[in-house]
Amino acid sequence: MVLWTPLLFLAFMATTSIASMDKQTYIIHMDKTKITASDHTLGNAKPWYELMMDSMHEILSQEEEDMSPLELLYIYKTSISGFAAQLSTKQVQSLKRLNGFLSATPDEMLSLHITHTPQFLGLHLGEGLWNAPTLASDVIIGIVDTGIWPEHVSFKDSSISQVPSRWKGTCEEGTKFSVANCNKKLIGARAFYKGYETIVGRINETMDYRSPRDFNGHGTHTASTAAGNLVHNANFLGMAKGLASGMSYTSRIAAYKACWRRGCTNSDLLAAIDRAVADGVDVLSLSLGGFSKPYYSDNIAIATFGAVQNGVFVSCSAGNSGPFSSSVSNAAPWIMTVAASYIDRSFPTTVKLGNGKTFEGSSLYSGKRTKQLPLVYASTAGGQLAQFCINDSLVPKLVKGKIVACEQGINSRVEKEEQVKNAGGAGMLLLNAEIYGEELLADSHTLPATSLGASAGKAIKNYVRLNKNPTASITFRGTVYGNIAPVMAAFSSRGPSLVGRDVIKPDITAPGVNILAAWPPKTIPSLLKNDTRSILFNIISGTSMSCPHVSGLAALLKSTHKDWSPAAIKSALMTTAYVLNSKRAPIADIASNSSKAATPFAFGSGHVNPKCASDPGLIYDITSEDYLNYLCSLNYNSTQIALLSRGNFTCPNNAFLQPGDLNYPSFAVLLDQNASNTSVTYKRTVTNVGTPMSTYVVQVDEPNGVSVTVEPKCLKFENLGEKLSYNVRFNALRRTKSSSNFSFGSLVWMSEFYTVRSPIAVTWQ
Ligand SMILES: *[C@@H]1O[C@H](CO)[C@@H](O)[C@H](O)[C@H]1NC(C)=O
Ligand SMILES: *[C@@H]1O[C@H](CO)[C@@H](O)[C@H](O)[C@H]1NC(C)=O
Ligand SMILES: *[C@@H]1O[C@H](CO)[C@@H](O)[C@H](O)[C@H]1NC(C)=O
Ligand SMILES: *[C@@H]1O[C@H](CO)[C@@H](O)[C@H](O)[C@H]1NC(C)=O
Ligand SMILES: *[C@@H]1O[C@H](CO)[C@@H](O)[C@H](O)[C@H]1NC(C)=O
Ligand SMILES: *[C@@H]1O[C@H](CO)[C@@H](O)[C@H](O)[C@H]1NC(C)=O
Ligand SMILES: *[C@@H]1O[C@H](CO)[C@@H](O)[C@H](O)[C@H]1NC(C)=O
Ligand SMILES: *[C@@H]1O[C@H](CO)[C@@H](O)[C@H](O)[C@H]1NC(C)=O
Ligand SMILES: *[C@@H]1O[C@H](CO)[C@@H](O)[C@H](O)[C@H]1NC(C)=O
Repeated sequence: MVLWTPLLFLAFMATTSIASMDKQTYIIHMDKTKITASDHTLGNAKPWYELMMDSMHEILSQEEEDMSPLELLYIYKTSISGFAAQLSTKQVQSLKRLNGFLSATPDEMLSLHITHTPQFLGLHLGEGLWNAPTLASDVIIGIVDTGIWPEHVSFKDSSISQVPSRWKGTCEEGTKFSVANCNKKLIGARAFYKGYETIVGRINETMDYRSPRDFNGHGTHTASTAAGNLVHNANFLGMAKGLASGMSYTSRIAAYKACWRRGCTNSDLLAAIDRAVADGVDVLSLSLGGFSKPYYSDNIAIATFGAVQNGVFVSCSAGNSGPFSSSVSNAAPWIMTVAASYIDRSFPTTVKLGNGKTFEGSSLYSGKRTKQLPLVYASTAGGQLAQFCINDSLVPKLVKGKIVACEQGINSRVEKEEQVKNAGGAGMLLLNAEIYGEELLADSHTLPATSLGASAGKAIKNYVRLNKNPTASITFRGTVYGNIAPVMAAFSSRGPSLVGRDVIKPDITAPGVNILAAWPPKTIPSLLKNDTRSILFNIISGTSMSCPHVSGLAALLKSTHKDWSPAAIKSALMTTAYVLNSKRAPIADIASNSSKAATPFAFGSGHVNPKCASDPGLIYDITSEDYLNYLCSLNYNSTQIALLSRGNFTCPNNAFLQPGDLNYPSFAVLLDQNASNTSVTYKRTVTNVGTPMSTYVVQVDEPNGVSVTVEPKCLKFENLGEKLSYNVRFNALRRTKSSSNFSFGSLVWMSEFYTVRSPIAVTWQ
C-alpha cells in the first residue's frame, strides 16, 4: 500500500490485527493501585511495574506446556499502566489471574491521517501572541509521527536559550541519526518500532530509517507547522513563496517516531505517548487515528487521558473520511479534535474547452500552460474502469498527445497521473467524485494536470460526449491570495461522534488544505517513480496538517498562561473561534452542492482565532475528576473506569450524573424526535480570566424546534479566578416532520470586552 499520496495518508483508519504464528502482540492494561496493595510485604523498594513483571513471570512459568520466554515489547508507566508483549492466547488467559489485570487487546495498525497560514490566522511578527516578551521558549511540543529531518533549516537552533532543565528526554541513535542531530530547538528524538516489526518484519532500511529520521516527510511537515523556525523565502518550486513559520516558532520540538511505511501500531504509539509525557512535553500532537471505539477500548483515548491528567494538552486530527456523517475519530472529550479547512491562498488553473467555456481547477504543476489539445474522457480510451485511469487500463494510441479526463476514485491520484504519463498523455484533468463537490486539492504533478470540482467535471463530460473533436487547454496561474475563506474541506471528517454523542465533535477547524511546510530534501514530493525533484518545503493537505496548527497555538497559549489546564486552553481556543468567513457570511461547506453553510458537525465551535484565544474572558475548565464523572455517567463499569483512571477512582454512587453536565465549552443535546414539551437541563461553570469586575449577559440563538432558557441570564464577576455557574434548559417544541435530524444554534456570554461563544447541536433521535 502506498502511504504517501496526500489523500491516502491523511486517511484512515484501516485497523488490522495480525497474528505472527501462534503468538500475537497484546496490550495489557493494569490497575497499578492493586499491584502495590497486594504486594506490600515485598517492601516499597520495588516499583509497581517490577512487582507486576515478577508475578507475571511466576504465572507464566506455571504453564507447563509453554515455557517459551516472555517476549516483552514495552512497559508503560506514565500515561498508562501496563505493558505490551507477544503472547499466545493461552498465555493471555493465564494473565487474567494477574492482580490488577484490566484488559488485553490485540495490537492494531493505525494510519496517518500537510505558509502563509500565520498571516491568515492574524499572527504578525512583534504583535499579540507573536510579541517577543510573551514568546518564552520554555514550551515543549511532542510530535508523534514519522520522525523528523533534523538538518532542516526549520529546526536550526540559532538564537534560542538553553534547553529547559526539567526536560528528561533524549536523542536516540539509529540509522543516520546520532546524538549530534538534536540541538536546542529539536531537543529530543526517539523511535518506536518493536510493535511494528513484530507485525511487518524488520524495517527494510532502503525504504525507511530505523531511527527517528523521517523518510516519509509527514513528520517533518507536521513538526514544522507546529513549531518550525521563521524561514524567509520558503516556497515549493516557486509557489506559495514567503515567510514559513511554525505557529509557535520559539517552542521546542521533540520527535517521537512511531509511524512507519505501513502505518503505526498501537503498542508503539502508546510507548511514544507514555515516553513523551515522562520526558516532560507540554503539548502532544497526533496526526493519526483509527476507527472510533468506546473510550475504554480505544488505546489512544486511554493514553491521551493519562497525558491530560499529567497536564499535557493533546490535539489530534479528526480524520479525512468526510464528508460522510459520523466519520470523526479521536473524539474523546479530553482531546482537541481538529477539522480541516481552506485558507485564502489557492493554486488556480484555468481549463478552457474548445467551445470557449472555462473552469477553475487547482494544481501545483510548475511548468508552462498547454496548447489547445485534443481532449479524451478516459472511459472511452481504454478498458474496464478506464474512467478511473487504473493500472494498464489506458490504450496508448487513444491517449497519446491528448489531455485525459480521469475520475477520482479507486486508485490514488498519483497512480492516475502515472498511467496517463505512461500511455503518452499530454495532460490530465482529475474530476471530483460527486460526493467531494467542489473540493480542490493541489497536487504536485509532473505533467500538466489539474483537479476540477464535480460540477466542472459534469460539464466537461457533457462537452466531450456532444462534440466530435473536443479540445482543452490548461493554464497554470501560480499562487493567488485573497480568496473567500475559510471554507470547510470535503475530506474533513464529520460528527456527530458515534461514541460520545453528548459532545460536539470535531471541536474546531484550522488550516488543512494545500499547506506549505518543511520537507526532507531526500523525499520526492510526488512519490512518482520518475520524480527526481528535491525540495525543502512541500504543499500537502489533510487534517494531519490542521492538527499541528492547533498544537502550536496551544503552545503559544501555554507560554502566556502558564497556569491554564489543558481544558482551559481548549476552552479558550473554542469559545473564541469564528463562524463567519472573510465576507462576513457563514463559513461554507465545499462538499455541499451550493456551498451551503457548514454546521458544527463539520467545524465544531468554528475556525481557530489565536488573537482572541489568548484573552477569552471566561473559560470552561474541566478537571480529571470531572472527566471521570462523565465516564461514570456513561454507565461504564468499574473495570472500564479503571482502564481510564488507572485504578484511582470510584464512581460516586449517589450523585446525579448526566453526560451533558460535563463542563464542555459547547452543547450537544439529544432530544426525542416525537417529543413535544420535554426538556433537558445542563449545568455549566465559567471562570473569569478577563477583567476583575465584569458583567456578562447571555444571548441565545435557538435551534429550530427548541426553546432555550438560561438561568441566571446575567453573570456578575468581581474577581479574577472567580467561578459562577448557570443552568441551561433545552425544551423540545413540537417538531415539523420535514425538518432534518439536527438543529443548530448558539449560546453566547457577552460583556463589554468579550464574546464567549458555544455552539448548540441538537440531535433528534
Ligand atoms: C528492501 O527494499 C528494496 C527496495 O524495494 C528491495 O530491493 C529489497 O529486496 C528489500 N530488502 C528486503 C530484505 O526485503
Ligand atoms: C498499480 O501499480 C502500482 C505500481 O505498479 C501498484 O503499487 C498498485 O498497487 C497498482 N494499483 C492497482 C489498483 O492495481
Ligand atoms: C520513467 O522514465 C523512463 C525514461 O524516461 C520511462 O521509460 C518510464 O516509462 C518512466 N516510468 C514512469 C513510471 O513514468
Ligand atoms: C448535488 O446535486 C445533484 C443533483 O443536482 C445530486 O445528484 C447530488 O446528490 C447532490 N450532491 C450532494 C452532495 O448533495
Ligand atoms: C465490565 O464490562 C466488561 C465488558 O462487558 C466485562 O468484561 C467486565 O467483566 C465488566 N467488569 C465488571 C467489574 O463488571
Ligand atoms: C489518585 O488521584 C489523585 C487525584 O487525581 C492524585 O492526587 C493521587 O496522587 C492519585 N493516586 C495515585 C496512587 O495515583
Ligand atoms: C416516534 O413515533 C413514531 C410513530 O408514532 C414511532 O414509530 C417511533 O418509534 C417513535 N420514536 C421514538 C424515538 O419514540
Ligand atoms: C410544558 O411543560 C411545562 C412543565 O413541564 C408546563 O409548565 C407547560 O405549561 C407546558 N407547556 C405546554 C405548551 O404544554
Ligand atoms: C434521519 O435519521 C434517520 C434514522 O436515524 C435516517 O434514516 C434518515 O435518513 C435521517 N435523515 C436525514 C435527512 O439525514
